[in-house]
Amino acid sequence: MACGGILVALDTTDVAVAKGWARATRDSVAGLKLGLEFFNANGPTGVAEIASLGAPVFLDFKFHDIPNTVAGAVRAVAPLKPMILNLHASGGAAMMRAARDAARDSAARLGAAPPKLIGVTVLTSLGDADLAEVGQPDGASDQVRRLAALTQACRLDGVVCSPHEIVVLRRDLGPDFLLVTPGVRPAWSAAGDQKRVMEPRQAVEAGADYLVIGRPITGAADPAEAARRIAAEITGVPA
Ligand code: C5P
Repeated sequence: MACGGILVALDTTDVAVAKGWARATRDSVAGLKLGLEFFNANGPTGVAEIASLGAPVFLDFKFHDIPNTVAGAVRAVAPLKPMILNLHASGGAAMMRAARDAARDSAARLGAAPPKLIGVTVLTSLGDADLAEVGQPDGASDQVRRLAALTQACRLDGVVCSPHEIVVLRRDLGPDFLLVTPGVRPAWSAAGDQKRVMEPRQAVEAGADYLVIGRPITGAADPAEAARRIAAEITGVPA
């Protein structure tokens, strides 16, 4: 698919702050991403409150556990009707297949479309030296390709990857496999703890479907303006 746009990462414990960011960016983004920080503070009620604003939601919960537990977690979040839900591909094939079946079964029971279920390959905060420390001396790109191929073999919908892996994964996995990429940094913002970063326009040109962007927007003095500016960089149309 062509780039679907920005998913803004609402990384906060405060529902009012998250709502403020969601409202400020609504005209420039494709959806909202809620992760562990928000969910652990506010639970399903908080997620439902954000979802009620009407934008599609990516639940970035990065499940990683035994298959039975992950399937149960997928069933538990199904009523929140996320557009995208993820898990760690390194949890293995049985875990991913159990999650996929749980997502389809619970969506059918709810009469809803199943979420796009995607695998996290390697966190964009990890460089090759960090991976070597945890027993993966082959480096990020090999590990990402291995996990993305496994994710596709398990018939999930796509992966989360760094912008630097997009070109190779697009070639490996074809045009229909969803590539969602964090680690996106406009030239005018700080990298923070992200290591494998790229500018928004380059990531889109490489073939990303969605760009997950947090702090360059939510940490900006004017989040609405920052989101507009990044959206304009992506489309090439001035804000
Ligand atoms: O603030 P920043 O733009 O770095 O936010 C990126 C978001 O993407 C964070 O919410 C982070 O949890 C998430 N993420 C990531 N790397 C992954 C998967 C998700 O940075 N591999």
